[in-house]
Amino acid sequence: MPDTPTAPTPDVDAPEDFLPIKDTDYVEFYVGNAKQAAHYCAQLFGFQIRGYRGPETGTKDTVHYLLEQNDIRFVLTASLRPDSPISTHVHRHGDGVKDIALTVGDATQSFEETTRRGATPVQEPTVHEDENGILVTSSISTYGDTIHTFVERDEYDGLFFPGFEPWSIDDWAAPPTTGLQYVDHCVGNVHEGDMETYVEYYAQTMGFYNMLHFTDQDISTEYSALMSKVMANGDEKIKFPINEPAEGKKKSQIEEYLEYYQGAGVQHIALATDDIITTVRTLRRRGVDFLQIPDSYYDREVLRDRVGSIEESIDDLEELSILVDRDPDGYLLQIFTQPVQDRPTVFFEIIQREGARTFGTGNFKALFEAIEREQARRGNL
Ligand code: FE2
Repeated sequence: MPDTPTAPTPDVDAPEDFLPIKDTDYVEFYVGNAKQAAHYCAQLFGFQIRGYRGPETGTKDTVHYLLEQNDIRFVLTASLRPDSPISTHVHRHGDGVKDIALTVGDATQSFEETTRRGATPVQEPTVHEDENGILVTSSISTYGDTIHTFVERDEYDGLFFPGFEPWSIDDWAAPPTTGLQYVDHCVGNVHEGDMETYVEYYAQTMGFYNMLHFTDQDISTEYSALMSKVMANGDEKIKFPINEPAEGKKKSQIEEYLEYYQGAGVQHIALATDDIITTVRTLRRRGVDFLQIPDSYYDREVLRDRVGSIEESIDDLEELSILVDRDPDGYLLQIFTQPVQDRPTVFFEIIQREGARTFGTGNFKALFEAIEREQARRGNL
């Protein structure tokens, strides 16, 4: 395996940030059945169903469930009609991520600054208003059919968006949360040769910088390879790794994704926890399916040589198939779920950072071999 790359520090002389981003506002999924998807996220992952918007609240042809867990907000959206962009999206991609929305101070300015620099406009600045105040949104596109919505919500006091009402069912005991705290990063898969295009896109239109770069030498197994560049905003709160497949003996996991998603899209959303052992134990008990890691990964001597001493017990990590890696700033613990819909496309990562700013380079090989075993089971390797 390669040496762990050092994450560069953002350039202190960088020009003034023209797109100050406060946070990930929400991640919106377009799904075939939002009601069932909402309960899947609630029962298995511990999200709380907070809001609902649909025919009963005055939205005629679509339904939207708002789910929250600490600082993570998911919106699950479905169409009630066949002839809508949502249905077309689901027909083509299966359930998937449509929108990685970003909280900004000024959605109008964000739209103007990014589109002036070449971002593809999706929605002009739009004001949404109800008795709880004013909210402004605008959107630009990124890879595939994925978009970024800029959300300005300083003047809004409501639940989430106009039209959403608190969701409640009498006597429903919502399952407890599982300790998931915030969105750590969102990874996109793009076609071979397109990685550089989107690296440029994020640099040029959003002022992101290339925090890390992995070549196919860094990320390869006996059978397949991929390349990845991580784009981040100035304070690294928003991190978007972008993967593209590289030449290999067999079909890479990225190619499998691109085939089943019918194009570029979000591969995984990494959700952070402060206590990965408790979180993963709970998730497993609830029925979340994770990638299985071979026992050899937990060879105590090899692991100690690679990551040094860590707080957590290796026995616990081995029992739960949690991976560990170290970089110059600290270490991290991570684990990957199986795809969360029928197609082998989107999945979640659970991550605990103990100082580390990178993404688990030392685990890439073990991880990709685990994915390839699953690909082989699906007949796609
Ligand atoms: Fe990740």
